[in-house]
Parts: sequence; structure tokens; C-alpha cells
Amino acid sequence: MKNWGKEKDYLTSTRQHMWNDDYFEFLVKCVWKIDKPVKIIDFGCGYGFLAQMLMPLVPEESSYKGIDISEELIKDARKQFANHGDTVSFEVADLNDYIPSADYDIAICQSVLRHLSNPEEILKKMIASVKTGGQVICIEPSRRLENAGLYIENQNFNPFEKDDFLKERWQSELEAGGRDFQIGMKAPVYMEKLGLKNIGVRLNDYVDYVCQEDEKCRFIKDYGTESKYAKADTMLAARCHVISYGYYEGN
Ligand SMILES: C[S@@+](CC[C@H](N)C(=O)[O-])C[C@H]1O[C@@H](n2cnc3c(N)ncnc32)[C@H](O)[C@@H]1O
Repeated sequence: MKNWGKEKDYLTSTRQHMWNDDYFEFLVKCVWKIDKPVKIIDFGCGYGFLAQMLMPLVPEESSYKGIDISEELIKDARKQFANHGDTVSFEVADLNDYIPSADYDIAICQSVLRHLSNPEEILKKMIASVKTGGQVICIEPSRRLENAGLYIENQNFNPFEKDDFLKERWQSELEAGGRDFQIGMKAPVYMEKLGLKNIGVRLNDYVDYVCQEDEKCRFIKDYGTESKYAKADTMLAARCHVISYGYYEGN
């Protein structure tokens, strides 16, 4: 299993290029309609990126708890939110061992199910964390969509060139009982199967447009590159995270 505490640079740099703030605000206020104080739990919270995004947008008196297996990331998260009292809290825990209790209004995760071999089991725990009427939100990638949304401005760019490489890599990961490259697209299907209602699905509208000389060094995901950070010419990369959400209406 990857130690995400050692991937802080990657995490922080990608999160700076992940969301349009106006679109995230639109989700909170117009799609998820969070207009009363809520208790939020964030599965696999990392250094608390979603807390940074959510807390300024949700009504006062809302609270947030993040859980993550990485002690290092949780330490960073706690440091960052040191002056938030009990409103924002973090816990080190392995989601596989985590025992949920139905205390929350919202259970959310971002880019976490993609890294776990048992996403459906973790989704069950998210559902078990919310009260009746509560909401479960998963923000997860689909590597197929992401690859379709990549354009690099150079003479040799061929959008199909790496298809076989990627197919082999992702399919074998999945077949080995591991990570699911399509989890973003499957999450709503699991949600329905597990009894959530009023399921909605959106796509993150962020497109990373790298065009300035001093910025031409950005992460190109798995695009057959040796290094995670590849020198790109002018480049567009659609983030394409799938945002799925549904409501728990009791058994
Ligand atoms: C790609 S990062 C996403 C972090 C955060 N949600 C964000 O969007 O910035 C995946 C996170 O899942 C956490 N994680 C992976 N496996 C876990 C497990 N079994 N239990 C708890 N957290 C886990 C990692 O430590 C890491 O912080």
C-alpha cells in the first residue's frame, strides 16, 4: 500500500489544480443544498484539503471530522486547523478497521476509493456513518475519462498512443483484485445497489490549462512517463472527477 505521507508534494500540487472554487460552491449550495449546520465525516481526508474547501462554505456551527491512515498527513491537518477548536477534528484510522456509527449528516470522500481494493465495503461504512436523511458523497476519478481529456501541444502528440499501455496497466490492477480505474463511474451504481436514494452524478468541470512558460512542469498522470512530473508543452488536462451523491432514507 502506498504511503501517502511520503506523497505530500504530489497531493498538494494536484489539489491546487483540481477544482474551480465557483463550481465547488455551486455543488455545496445549489446541488447538495447544504443550508443548515451539518456534521461531516471525510473518509481518507489526507491533509484536510476537503475541510479547507468545505468549512468556509457550510453554515456556521457545522463540524467536520477527517479520518486517514497516514499519521504524517493527519499531523499536518491538525496543525493547519489548530485554532478551530472542536469544530474540525482528525483521527488516524485504517478505514478497513474503522467501525462507523450513524452520527453524521454527510459522509464524503475524495480520491480514496480509487486507492482501495474494496471500494464497495468502504462505501457501506460511509452509508453506515450517516443518520436517516443523511447524504453520501463520493468524488472519484475515472482514468478513461481523464485520459480522453488530455491534450499536449507538441507535434508528436497522439491521443491514442498510450492506450495499450494504460489498458494493460489498469486492467491488470483491477484483475489482480486491486484498484478500480473506473471507480468514479461505478460509485453511483454501488450507491443504488446499497440502497441510497435520489442519486445524482456530476463531473468536476476543472480543466488544467498549462500555458505559461514558468509553469510548464506539471503532473501528467500515468501518461507513460517515467517520472510523475513531466515537462509539458502547453497542455490541457481535464480533471474529470466524477461526483456522485445519494441519500440514506433508512432501512
Ligand atoms: C489520493 S489521497 C486523497 C486525500 C484527500 N481525500 C484529498 O483529496 O486530498 C488518498 C488518501 O487515502 C488515504 N488512505 C488510503 N488507504 C487508507 C486506509 N486503508 N484507511 C484510511 N485512509 C486511507 C491515504 O492515506 C491518502 O491520504
